[in-house]
Amino acid sequence: MKSIEEIKDIIAGLTLEEKASLCSGDTFWLTHEIPEKGIPKIMVSDGPVGLRKQENIEDHLGMNESIKAVCFPAGVGMAATFNKDLYGKMGEALGEECRAENVAVILGPAVNIKRSPLCGRNFEYLSEDPFLASEMSTSYVKGVQSKHVGTSIKHFAVNNMETRRFSASSNLSERALREIYLAAFEGPVRNAKPWTVMCSYNRINGVLASQNKKILTDILRNEWGFEGNVISDWGAVSDRTKALKAGLNLEMPTSYGENDKKLVEAVRSGELDEKELDENCLSLLKLVFDAYDNIGNSEDFKFDRDEHHKLAREIASETFVLLKNEDNVLPLSKDQKIAVVGPYAKNPRYQGGGSAHINCHKIEGFLQVCSENNINISYAEGFSPVADDFDEKLCEEAVNISKEADVTLIFAGLPDIFESEGYDRKHMQMPSCQLKVIEEISRVAKKTVVVLHNGSPVEMPFIYDVDGILECYLGGQAVGGAQYDIIFGDKSPSGKLAETFPVMLEDNPSYLNFPGTRNNVNYAEDIFVGYRYYDKKKMDVLFPFGFGLSYSEFKYDNLRLSRKEMNDTDELEVSVDITNIGKVEAKEAVQLYVKNCESEIIRPVREFKGFEKVNLLPGETKTVTFKLNKRSFAYYEERISDWAVPSGTYEIEIGKSSRSIELSDSVNIKSDLILPDFYEYDTISEHLLQDPRIAEVLKEYYNKMRDDREKSDVEKESMNEEMENASFLYSPLRSGLYFSAGKIKYSDIDEFLEKANSIISGK
Ligand code: BGC
Repeated sequence: MKSIEEIKDIIAGLTLEEKASLCSGDTFWLTHEIPEKGIPKIMVSDGPVGLRKQENIEDHLGMNESIKAVCFPAGVGMAATFNKDLYGKMGEALGEECRAENVAVILGPAVNIKRSPLCGRNFEYLSEDPFLASEMSTSYVKGVQSKHVGTSIKHFAVNNMETRRFSASSNLSERALREIYLAAFEGPVRNAKPWTVMCSYNRINGVLASQNKKILTDILRNEWGFEGNVISDWGAVSDRTKALKAGLNLEMPTSYGENDKKLVEAVRSGELDEKELDENCLSLLKLVFDAYDNIGNSEDFKFDRDEHHKLAREIASETFVLLKNEDNVLPLSKDQKIAVVGPYAKNPRYQGGGSAHINCHKIEGFLQVCSENNINISYAEGFSPVADDFDEKLCEEAVNISKEADVTLIFAGLPDIFESEGYDRKHMQMPSCQLKVIEEISRVAKKTVVVLHNGSPVEMPFIYDVDGILECYLGGQAVGGAQYDIIFGDKSPSGKLAETFPVMLEDNPSYLNFPGTRNNVNYAEDIFVGYRYYDKKKMDVLFPFGFGLSYSEFKYDNLRLSRKEMNDTDELEVSVDITNIGKVEAKEAVQLYVKNCESEIIRPVREFKGFEKVNLLPGETKTVTFKLNKRSFAYYEERISDWAVPSGTYEIEIGKSSRSIELSDSVNIKSDLILPDFYEYDTISEHLLQDPRIAEVLKEYYNKMRDDREKSDVEKESMNEEMENASFLYSPLRSGLYFSAGKIKYSDIDEFLEKANSIISGK
């Protein structure tokens, strides 16, 4: 560790060229060293759910081999655990692997919002909900960094598709940006202080993320207090000088000196102040020296891969979501006659493709674990894991073993090629050969359970034909053991969907604007992403956000709010009791949603604002307590560039999912929010009435123009109350000139405006 003064002294002794060279990588994964000036290099590696340390041939798409490491479940499943502690534990394990391998920063977590189920990297990302993504990734960052290894939360920001990922501009409102897309980053940046943030490839409202001062400096540093370094995604920089000025510290990977030269030229031409370059070097060298303290003592950091494999199994079992379980088809008993169909039972699909691809130290499939435990199973492949050609013979074999069995498990899902970094899916369907096999089997089998392996939602035309559906996502290298634990009931499933499964792709709110045209994608659905949209439109979905079944049952009662009236700056404590009323030990993710009942503002029906996972023995009761603060009730108000809570009643809902609310109670919130405004002749009454202070003055004005005359019958007939109200509310101030029988003059309007504008401007 070096002091700031020592680092400044080192920088003072560097040439301009040397300073510029520090601002980009030396290779694919290493920073630039200057040994003669005492500057060492550090290594960064992917991330996010396993270590992809490449020692020889390097690439950013996971094609060339990396060292053996433990592959934990993909982000999609990690979010489905709704278990912050578990995600933190995984972070700690990754931190240990990094220490042992001399990796200073792991490139994760990846927290971009799932705007469309088609995004090729959805398997890596966490959720359609920013609060869930934010809370979960906070745990990850804390877990990794507790081992003194840095994280790089990515991809900052609004990077929600792979199509034209280097150039597309994500065009969106400030409100959607803040409430949905930035919120997933804001929590971990404020509360876990990641060492680095990785800026994304795309543009945001026209400006490349790597050159976006508003995003990288105004918001990230000035508003959220980020003190670490911004690293570019691999190849995200276009204009190195603009990027540095916008707040990008380190360009990765190396541009083989080309962009370093640009920085030197920029200083020489006066475009860049050398002091800014010095500041950048100071920030980078703080990271390098801090991390370098680890290097060289890796032997103190031995870890046991088999122990981490066990942890991967424990975690994976919580990532699975039981979507359907008719007549309790699951769990199976070990002496049932079981048929297993599908290549993923043997060779599971357990991780996604691209830069997140891990070279696993071992992989366990379901069949292997069954055979290790002497479970008698008949197996047929049924379909090919790669091609989408229906194979009559494979299907027939599968149908034949299914006829003989008490229950058939079909291990199906999406082949690797269907979803990956670098491109998006074109549809949400599973391969037709798999659908045909499921159809044929469910026709003859006594009971059928589909066990899914996919990184993102699929349409399920078989939903009514099968008895059970277990969503296993991409469960990591220990997926087979975890499947064994859940399928045979050693553990109860406890995963909940961190994303909505729409009935069909066309239902998704981004459908009309994904992936956009040419270089633009307009986020026209605005804040209505995922359940925020489906709920507002009262649409049927296949499975809602937060949904997941258990082998047990839970009773929720005794909802208590610490107060019924509060100011928006107060904290609200919410407690609820949950009891396991079923027969087996099980975990449940208790979910809290907030509903703003009577707002003028366009808001979602409900928003997810709290969750806690509890383990309960049969008959056991636990109390879960949530703390809500201003932000839990707020929306982003563009007129004040800040979070705002309109006064009114808010419902606090406790649910098993976003569509299964068990208990609710309400709280009245008072806020002294007054939005800045300016009134003029064209301002309408409705608008003026929103500010109670102005409403008073308006009364005087309207009293003057009131028409006290008895209405004629014709007038009464042609004007009902609603029409009268509307005509009042939507009339501009100047309408007094025409509709007060000459009582209102310009001088009255001017007098009103002077009063009203002086009240709101405080003058
Ligand atoms: C990906 C990043 C990754 C980097 C390095 C990029 O293509 O977008 O997520 O960390 O490569 O592999």
